[in-house]
Amino acid sequence: MTRVLGIETSCDETAAAIVSLEGDRSEVLSSVVLSQIAEHEAFGGVVPEIAARAHVEALDGVVAAALADAKLGLAGVDAIAVTAGPGLIGGLIVGVMTAKALAAASGKRLIAVNHLEGHALTARLTDGLGFPYLLLLVSGGHTQIVLVRGVGSYERWATTIDDALGEAFDKTAKLLGLPYPGGPSVEKAAVRGDAGRFDLPRPLKGEARLDFSFSGLKTAVRQAAKTLEPLRDTDVDDICASFQRAVSETLADRVGRSLERFHREFPSIAEPALVVAGGVAANGEIRSMLTTLCRQRDFRFVAPPLELCTDNAVMIAWAGLERLRAGKADENAFDMAPRSRWPLDEDAAPALGGGRRGAKA
Ligand code: KG4
Ligand code: ZN
Repeated sequence: MTRVLGIETSCDETAAAIVSLEGDRSEVLSSVVLSQIAEHEAFGGVVPEIAARAHVEALDGVVAAALADAKLGLAGVDAIAVTAGPGLIGGLIVGVMTAKALAAASGKRLIAVNHLEGHALTARLTDGLGFPYLLLLVSGGHTQIVLVRGVGSYERWATTIDDALGEAFDKTAKLLGLPYPGGPSVEKAAVRGDAGRFDLPRPLKGEARLDFSFSGLKTAVRQAAKTLEPLRDTDVDDICASFQRAVSETLADRVGRSLERFHREFPSIAEPALVVAGGVAANGEIRSMLTTLCRQRDFRFVAPPLELCTDNAVMIAWAGLERLRAGKADENAFDMAPRSRWPLDEDAAPALGGGRRGAKA
């Protein structure tokens, strides 16, 4: 049996978890996630400096709690997997330095994990999915469609050319005066609203390319709000409902095209799968749209439980186990430095913010 301790500190969750693998049998032995929502609430978004300090303060205790929950000491794990990027560099440094220290002190193997690989492989832990499959990652920092071919083999088919989808939800909430985090607030207001009241754009809908764009939609929301000021509660509800409908219809078009491409490229796969991950996957309207879309396009829709869709350390421990099993764990992990930018598909052209440190998304 192999047991891996996973550590995740790339954004605003301090997390540690232990996952075991024996043959094909995997088990989550513990999972601790400490959210920093309260620390960032007053600022309407994640403040990198505050996040890094909060990770420093919390990580020791979170790792100790994960070990205690699994009834293990550090001697009981075989390797330590840590998110080495992409993400906020301060938090990544805290996680990576802690993991290096623990691994060095206990003589355990160290595995550097790409956060996006954690999201990409979770469905194999929860649903035993075989390769290849499509991943739709929709979070506060990422909006991507990735072809998952195998461990360490990813092809990015689509990404956002401007804002991430979660970011669009958060910015919409902020400009309407709704509480942080914006996604759940917008969804709650949308339930009461009239989705047909505002005719908001469906960015890139109908275009042959597979990418996403959300900044135009955000601008349209701002304009709609401005013309109505001062906003009544029903205006806010109607804008949220119209925004969510626009997002959902845009996603259906964009994701639908990737599903068609998958059928064309892998005609022999009888029941292909679409996996969704990231915080936006919590959205009810988006989930039901994806369920319908997959039914129409002969895809199996796989949505791991929400606590494994959002940031957690189980996915990092699991990606570490997958890498060990596949013989793809870096032998020189002690030499690695965290990377704020680290695309899963190193060959994909950066859609935004190229530059010295590599692609932003
Ligand atoms: O995956 P996640 O927890 O953290 C990262 O960004 O990595 O995703 C957080 C994002 C936030 O932008 C949040 O507003 C969004 O997911 N979100 C939602 C919902 N719940 C969370 N967006 C839409 N509807 C929701 N119910
Ligand atoms: Zn994430």
